[in-house]
Amino acid sequence: MTDTQMLSREAAPLEEEACARAPVGLLAELTHRCPLQCPYCSNPTELERANTELSTADWQSVMRQAAELGILQIHLSGGEPTARRDLEEIVETAAKSGLYTNLITAGVLLSRERLEKLRDAGLDHVQLSIQDVDVENADRIGAYKGGAKKKHEVAGWVRELDMPLTVNAPIHRQNIENLPAIIDYAVDVGAGRLEVAHIQYYAWALKNRAALMPTKEAFMKTAEIVKEAKERLKGILVIDFVVPDYYAKYPKPCMGGWGRGIINVTPSGRVLPCHAAESLPGMQFDNVRDRPLADIWLNGSAFEKYRGTDWMKEPCRSCDRREIDFGGCRCQAFALTGDAANTDPACSLSPKHEEWAKVAEVESHKPAPEFVYRRMGKAANATSE
Ligand code: SF4
Ligand code: FES
Repeated sequence: MTDTQMLSREAAPLEEEACARAPVGLLAELTHRCPLQCPYCSNPTELERANTELSTADWQSVMRQAAELGILQIHLSGGEPTARRDLEEIVETAAKSGLYTNLITAGVLLSRERLEKLRDAGLDHVQLSIQDVDVENADRIGAYKGGAKKKHEVAGWVRELDMPLTVNAPIHRQNIENLPAIIDYAVDVGAGRLEVAHIQYYAWALKNRAALMPTKEAFMKTAEIVKEAKERLKGILVIDFVVPDYYAKYPKPCMGGWGRGIINVTPSGRVLPCHAAESLPGMQFDNVRDRPLADIWLNGSAFEKYRGTDWMKEPCRSCDRREIDFGGCRCQAFALTGDAANTDPACSLSPKHEEWAKVAEVESHKPAPEFVYRRMGKAANATSE
């Protein structure tokens, strides 16, 4: 028997086991490069540089391994994934491997011709982010002149090329008044889905929390607007509504639970249970350059660390909701309490909840400070309101 035959025999049980417990999706952060500088970017504040990025062949291998593992959807993200010139090749490999491919893009680097090439390579779906419907405000938030106009063009091309379109609209105190117009915009451009996503406060957004946090009253109004629009637009537009943790009673099951549903691969190939996991101290992250994806998913120490419920402390340990929300978000628990195994302060049962909810109330009623814009190297300030 050759070494290769031996290896494939030994690998079979691992793949079978991994497949049985496979995550639904893989978020491929193809690059951290991006022409926009949104102050709520979910990328880490220490961005990975272009010379550390995985090669085309590495990403193609990730796509094939993901399919073998039983993953269904690939979210091609960034930074801005279209900054990679080899995106077509990566999409083609993913599509040929049987994966559903979703491009998460700011759109500003796309041409109609490139979008057509991506569609022909097998791209299934486009998720286009917008900053606002007010063109001037949108360009200010993304720090990219002409961005809003270009995005509008891109939305038109997606529909002309007969591809399904989702509009992603991060909502915060500096665009919240325009929510009804954002919903109209999504209908006008022919989107089938709109994500009304209140900001989640990690990474760059945590730095900019006071500049982004809406008042509770403003948030409640968005819940009413979305409820009415969902009813009115049945059969035309599906609206997903992501609420801000700071105004919730219970936390969200972040990532569907740690190590349960999603794998995140960084531009340099580190495999994370969530996009912010590198903010946690004392963790070891495996790299797809060194270890098979299935093995990392099943046995990697970072995935094992908070998988299931055994790691929980009180009040989560004895709580009826522990298999529903898995104690909330580990990264938020660490950022706000100093211990990732603590209950997420978004939970009203957390001893830190009151103090934490107060922060939102105080910050949202003060004048907004300047944005700290996302930027490689030095962060930059600019006037916000
Ligand atoms: Fe969820 Fe823990 Fe709060 Fe219970 S105590 S609701 S498990 S976060
Ligand atoms: Fe890391 Fe929620 S962002 S667990």
